[in-house]
Parts: sequence; C-alpha cells; structure tokens
Amino acid sequence: MGNNIYDNQKSIQELKAGDKIDAFVLVKSYDVKKTTAGKLYVDLNLVDRTGEINAKIWENPKASEEILVENSIVKVRGEILEWGGALQLKVNKIRALLENENIQISQLVPSAPIEPNEMLKEVKDFADKIKDIQIRTLVNNILEKYNNKLLFYPAAKKNHHSYRGGLLYHVLRMLKTGEMISMIYGSLNTDYIFAGVILHDICKVLEMDSDDFGVVSDYTMEGKLLGHIIQGVKEIEIEGEKIGLDREKSIVLQHMILSHHYEPEYGSPKKPMTIESEVLHYLDIIDARMFDFENVLKGVEEGRFSDRVWVLDNRSVYKPIDNNIK
Ligand SMILES: [Fe+2]
Ligand SMILES: [Fe+2]
Repeated sequence: MGNNIYDNQKSIQELKAGDKIDAFVLVKSYDVKKTTAGKLYVDLNLVDRTGEINAKIWENPKASEEILVENSIVKVRGEILEWGGALQLKVNKIRALLENENIQISQLVPSAPIEPNEMLKEVKDFADKIKDIQIRTLVNNILEKYNNKLLFYPAAKKNHHSYRGGLLYHVLRMLKTGEMISMIYGSLNTDYIFAGVILHDICKVLEMDSDDFGVVSDYTMEGKLLGHIIQGVKEIEIEGEKIGLDREKSIVLQHMILSHHYEPEYGSPKKPMTIESEVLHYLDIIDARMFDFENVLKGVEEGRFSDRVWVLDNRSVYKPIDNNIK
C-alpha cells in the first residue's frame, strides 16, 4: 500500500481540489443518506485545528457507519473534489484510532493553549484563595455547577477566545493579571477581584449553545433575551440566597458583573461604582486586546503591518523585528 501519493501534512484549511490526503481528523457529525437513485452513502463533517470539510463515503456505507462515533478521531484517506463550489472529501478508506496512536481531541480542534483540566484546577486554586468563606463558597458552588461546560466552552461565538476552552483561558489570564495588579494596589480587595473575574462571564455557558468542540451554533433563547450580564447577576442572587450570602456582599458582586462592559451600549446599565469593578473592566479589556493582537500578529511577518483589523477598531498593526509572538 504505497501511500506516497497521499499527503498527511496538509491541514483542512490548506486543501485544494485534487489533493489526496491521509490524515487524522475528528468526526463532527455523520448521517447515512440515500441518493435519488436509492443508493446509500454516509455524509459526514470532519474537522481539524484549522477548519471543517464535508465528506462522503460511497463504498460500503454500512461497514463505515459501524466505526463512526461523533466526536471521535478517525484516520481517513481520500481525495478532495470540488462540488457545487465547495470542497468535498471523497473517502476511500476510514478507520478508528488505534490504541497506540496517541492523539488528543485538543490537537484536532482549535483550542486554548493549556489543557482544560489544568486550567480549571488553576481557576479553582484562585477560588480557594478567597478569604471570605461566604464568597468562597458562592464561587466554588457556581464553578461546581458549571464544571462540565467550563471544560470546553469558548468565551465568544466570534472574536476573542472563540475556541475550545477559551472561556477558562480568558478567566485564568485575568486572574493572574488581577493578582499582580492587587499586589501593586493594596487598596484592592482580592476576594472581590478573584470572585468578580471568575464569575464575570460564567453565564456565557447559559448565553450560548456550544458543542464539545467549543463551536457556538447560536445564542440560546435566554441568552438572546437576557445576555450573560443579567444572567450572571441573577445567578449570584439565586446562589447567594441558597447559602445565606450577606446582602451587601451579594450586591457588590452583582454590581461587578452588571458593570463589567462599562457602557450601556455594550450591555452594562451602570458604570463601575466600586474600585474592584473598575479594575475588573480593565482586566477584561486587557485580556481581550492581548488575544486580538496575538491572533493577528501570528499571521504577520516581522517588520510588516497587518491588514486592517475590525475588532481592533480597523487598525492595521505592526510586528517589530524582535518580538515574542509565536
Ligand atoms: Fe462579558
Ligand atoms: Fe470577559
């Protein structure tokens, strides 16, 4: 079986009609369908870190179907065709991952650079640093409640951290920055900083519908009508009541969530009115901006400017010769 005609280096984004591939991909979804002539075939969507492609299995669809499991890794061999203006993979061979093939889902879907379990552990370590027992209990209870979703949720549908584990990554970087800032400004109460950061976007798990790949298909009905800010405020009210959280602390935390977008046109009906809520807003902005810059500059050569970037107010940004972007 000479597989030299197959290319196992190309990512989905790089594929062109006529390419032959032999690669590990993730089965996002599959379905057995019938042509108008009554012939059965498998229609499937495959993904890797860079994108998604539709594929068809014409030969022996029943046998192939037996090895297919959604969200599982398979090895496919086939050729790329163009069909109706889109690329399609005609599968010649497909098999499940072998036991000795050590490939993780995170290698095949766009993901945060740190393993979700590791990030969640670090976030929980920050929660444990909260000195006030009531606030610590509140934060731990909410983290526990959404534990499973946090392991794969992105921070957004598009824009910053819109990949698997993005929400945890966003929160973790904000916690680390928040801890540093609190060392400089002793006037800050780290209990509120840590709790506010952990809870500020947590209701994105209720606002958006994400699959296990961190891909958001849509906002939920509740997300569309309320949004993660109001959902987050309600969450603190409800979970706070359950543990008899002191009223003043509950309101101070609710205000942090309420004001973190700063402007009414971005969803915050009140501007920050506590010192920690002011800082929370800037921690959020710093991390979102860092993500956008890093993301854009990855694709820019040293000594060159990027194209105009919509999320950066249409700026074109420059990548100096000596830089740390990888
Ligand atoms: Fe937010
Ligand atoms: Fe945020």
